[in-house]
Amino acid sequence: MGIEFLEEGRQFHLYNDDISYVFHVMRNGQLGNLYFGKRIATNRDYTDREEHSYRPVSAYTYDHEYSFSLGDLRQEYPAYGTGDFRDPAVEIKQENGSTVTNFTYQKHRIFAGKPRLDGLPATYVENNDEAMTLEVTLHDDVIAADMVLTYTIYANRNVIARNVRFINHGKQPLHITKAMSLALDLPDSNYDWLQFSGAWARERQPKARHLQQGIQAIGSTRGASSHMQNPFVILKRPNTTEDLGTAIGLTFVYSGNFRIQAEVDTYDVTRLTVGIHPQNFDWKLNPGAVFQTPEALITFSHTGLNGLSQTNHALLRERLVRGKWRDRNRPVLINNWEATYFDFDEDKLVQIAKKARDCGIELFVLDDGWFSTRNGETSGLGDWWANRDRLPNGIKGLATRVKKLGMKFGLWFEPEMVNKDSELYRNHPDWIIQTPHRHPSHGRQQYVLDFSRPEVVDAIYTMMAKILADADIDYIKWDMNRNITEVYSAAYPADQQGEIFHRYILGVYSLYERLINRFPDILFESCASGGGRFDAGMLYYAPQAWTSDCSDAAERVKIQYGTSYGYPLSSMGAHVSITPNHQLNRSTPLKTRGDIAFFGGGFGYELDLNKLTPAEQKAVNAQIRFAKQSREIINHGIFYRLQDPFTHNIATWMVVSPDKRHALVEVYKMLNDVNAPFHLTYLRGLDSKAQYHVTEEEGQDCGLHGGDELMNAGLITTDEQAGQVATEDIKGDFSSRLFILDAK
Ligand code: GLA
Repeated sequence: MGIEFLEEGRQFHLYNDDISYVFHVMRNGQLGNLYFGKRIATNRDYTDREEHSYRPVSAYTYDHEYSFSLGDLRQEYPAYGTGDFRDPAVEIKQENGSTVTNFTYQKHRIFAGKPRLDGLPATYVENNDEAMTLEVTLHDDVIAADMVLTYTIYANRNVIARNVRFINHGKQPLHITKAMSLALDLPDSNYDWLQFSGAWARERQPKARHLQQGIQAIGSTRGASSHMQNPFVILKRPNTTEDLGTAIGLTFVYSGNFRIQAEVDTYDVTRLTVGIHPQNFDWKLNPGAVFQTPEALITFSHTGLNGLSQTNHALLRERLVRGKWRDRNRPVLINNWEATYFDFDEDKLVQIAKKARDCGIELFVLDDGWFSTRNGETSGLGDWWANRDRLPNGIKGLATRVKKLGMKFGLWFEPEMVNKDSELYRNHPDWIIQTPHRHPSHGRQQYVLDFSRPEVVDAIYTMMAKILADADIDYIKWDMNRNITEVYSAAYPADQQGEIFHRYILGVYSLYERLINRFPDILFESCASGGGRFDAGMLYYAPQAWTSDCSDAAERVKIQYGTSYGYPLSSMGAHVSITPNHQLNRSTPLKTRGDIAFFGGGFGYELDLNKLTPAEQKAVNAQIRFAKQSREIINHGIFYRLQDPFTHNIATWMVVSPDKRHALVEVYKMLNDVNAPFHLTYLRGLDSKAQYHVTEEEGQDCGLHGGDELMNAGLITTDEQAGQVATEDIKGDFSSRLFILDAK
């Protein structure tokens, strides 16, 4: 790994064994991109790759010359208004009303390691030899502002991390109305764009389209990254598969409004931009002030989509997630939400916990409804103290009883929200986000607290910290169940209202940071009506997230499969719930529900085990034993998607331990079929020289097979009942088989 600067041509080359990223200072002092992809030789001048030639209807930089037009050049961080008519990365409004800028190269700095970003989530290093960083400072004389582009390359990860910082050295305030975290101009447009879209309860379903001239983009303007679009996109070559070919991944390490965009221009150059959504964004940069963008990651794979996902998984898991729980397996939990909703008291909860403990569950989580007057959706949010009618001994009393059972205790919070029917709102009606003289919209009868105001964050911190200091709490589920409307803050002047969405997220991050610092042992799980804020930003604070409110196994197959493109298994909360399922009224076998949930690092149950039949309880005991045995490989293994559930009746995937000694293979069949064909599953990532003993989860012995055999000839996964006449005990729809491989 290294970062090379060639004085002649002023060329920067960031490289490791696998990838190269090359750009240079162009003749006009701005930066131009030369290459991003598989590693190419260092100590070589690539500046002749800068393509510029006469193009009709262009605007040219130099008088009497017709060859240098910003509109036709591949740039690093483009601005609008001086010849480039494509969508820019930056826009700065000045006192005289102009938005024209010209940031040119001033200096650069190359150093070992990677600096943290103040107040923002970012990937990090533990030792400076893990990565190298390049900071290029550009300066605009007219507005006396600096723009610092930062690039980090990791030694053993195919990723470039980028961010941008603006510093106003001048006398006039500037308004940054657009500041993307990265821009990358690729030389052609032969890519399929793969986005992960959906809705509440059906998050992150892959959707693909081929790039075309014009703009294709996804984003969120909801104040959260959202269920609808996820701040992660893949560009793959049309012939790239899960195992072969090249692909580029774009990950935004941020939880608020975002946009990821590809603009294909008239010469088939593709401009990628990733950053805070410019709609409603206007950051006032006073003289002397600094504005820091969030981080964006560009991943490159020449080993297909699995290779790309594996790079993202390892990076997010090892160098984005922090704290005690980063490398630890997470406790098997039980959450009371679908078991009781708001209908519980202390004894009922303890009954649920006791049964769960008997089955081997390690953590009891008390969900919504434990505080203040919270008996339903209409009241209580904002008042973080125990409801003494339900919990006469407070949270401390309940926590003590749960602890006595030998379990850990966890609690639900929704810190960013308030109901109008609450003491907090009655005392501070101006603390919600609302526009003067306009009616504030509600979502689930609740309003968003103005987290752009430090005193609001303080007040919530004080209430939460009191409970956490008083009772022994091991886990927090941090929920967020509505998006921001009528955005406006009573605390800021008119010319700073465009900062509120971003300041809100900074407030959320600051609350997390304070709680993590004071209570470093707590395991946080983020949640936003399920997966409405499942993003890399959140993972910096909470190592796992509730993947979706939909706990139906057949839907979870798709949701977890889609999520796996960008995010590690360790980050996914996955629970077994009762049937008929509460979201869909569908019944799936208990085995399938367990098998699918095993593939989330936050495995657990969302039901009252007391209500299961003895046979089901026995099966649950076995599942919990299996979850404990398999969580090491789930959290630290290498994941391979084998066959997708969107276009196939049978979906398959597997996870292999880093030493290749163990693997788990999941074979899920959506609809049963009569007299079905033979079926083979071609495995990946095994040691071709090893012999694996294959068993099924329920103990069936499937013999000894070579790694080479399993990868090339395939694992026989034919349904052993295929061809039999249906009887009552034959497998029906939504069936699952889980194979366990152990090397001899
Ligand atoms: C959201 C969460 C659920 C549950 C409820 C409680 O919908 O996603 O898991 O916590 O809130 O109100």
